[in-house]
Amino acid sequence: MRVLVTGGAGYIGSHTLLELMAQGHEVCVLDNYSNATPEVLNRVRSLSNGKVTDFEGDVRDSAKLDDVMQAFAPDAVIHFAGLKAVGESAQKPLYYYDVNITGTLTLLKAMERANCRRLIFSSSATVYGEPQYLPCDEAHPTNPVSVYGRTKLMAEQILTDWTAANPDCAAVLLRYFNPVGAHPSADLGEDPRDIPNNLMPFIAQVAVGKRDQLEVFGDDYDTPDGTGLRDYIHVVDLARAHVAALDYAAQNSGARPFNIGTGQNYSVREMVASFEAASAKPIPTKQSTRLEGDFAAMQADARRANAELGWHATHNLSDMAASTWAWQSKNPDGYRSDD
Ligand code: NAD
Ligand code: UD1
Repeated sequence: MRVLVTGGAGYIGSHTLLELMAQGHEVCVLDNYSNATPEVLNRVRSLSNGKVTDFEGDVRDSAKLDDVMQAFAPDAVIHFAGLKAVGESAQKPLYYYDVNITGTLTLLKAMERANCRRLIFSSSATVYGEPQYLPCDEAHPTNPVSVYGRTKLMAEQILTDWTAANPDCAAVLLRYFNPVGAHPSADLGEDPRDIPNNLMPFIAQVAVGKRDQLEVFGDDYDTPDGTGLRDYIHVVDLARAHVAALDYAAQNSGARPFNIGTGQNYSVREMVASFEAASAKPIPTKQSTRLEGDFAAMQADARRANAELGWHATHNLSDMAASTWAWQSKNPDGYRSDD
């Protein structure tokens, strides 16, 4: 298929480009580089030895989207482009609603004009809010507690209404759990611009000496070691879920959510220990209190994705830690390491 990948220069998008090309898909990227650099696409080109057409532009720009649709004529779109920092979303709600909602609407309208009927959407387990039961399946009630989470749920609702009105259209809503890890080449990985928001990139920066210590938020949760449990998913497994979702969208119409996680979860202390083992570096930690709005545990029930997408996670915790360390140690300043 010919696949337009919005936000394709980002962390998950770049890994997905490689998996798409490995399965024979043709790819085109639209990215405004607000959280990425064009260098990423050069690395994707050299790792794949393939062609990556790219356009610099914003998903909220209708005219730009028409140009891209006309030039590339995609059969499907994978929509990664968006903003993802929970804390920032509370400070800049209008900016988040604009990029994540107006962006999705503008893209859908351009797809309609170009008669493109399949969309794979980057959603998040954050749409569930604090889980009422575990493992969390797709029937779990949705109750996002952040602006960011509400943008994801609203976008899911827009896509669901779009497919209801257009029965030949398909929207696959992938609810990612906690993406971590890097490409086995160590040439692609997560490259936070500021202080990392998430656990794994923070640990990686401590290991490489960019930060002194990790603050562990809470040790009094009702979990085996008192620290928070999450379902971490290797980014290469996550990337492959998008390829499986494309095949699904070629055979099915309507909108359908899928949890993309491993079905296992690990504590903050287990994540630190696995990273110490992978890097042979000590990770100093400082115990802090619980983060407001944080909760004890999350874990995916991913059986729907296993059964209907034919997708299974294959990477384990040590793969996640080892690949993150290989990327971080080879690129201590991320993609800026080449400058
Ligand atoms: P990322 O920031 O690395 O990638 C997003 C890409 O979109 C970047 O390359 C950025 O430059 C681009 N972009 C942002 N705004 C744009 C705009 N207006 N027009 C065009 N391009 C734009 O993030 P990621 O981790 O790869 O996440 C990709 C998607 O997955 C996001 O929608 C995010 O909300 C979602 N998601 C991420 C996580 C996670 O933990 N990484 C978890 C759940 C869901
Ligand atoms: C965060 C986001 C969520 C997003 C998810 C995956 C928030 C409130 N939620 O959730 O929307 O979908 O990432 O990208 O930001 N921790 C520490 N010290 C740190 C960082 C984290 O102890 O410096 C702990 C947290 O308390 C948690 C675990 O590590 O128990 C994982 O944290 P994080 O990576 O931020 O993921 P989530 O909390 O699941």
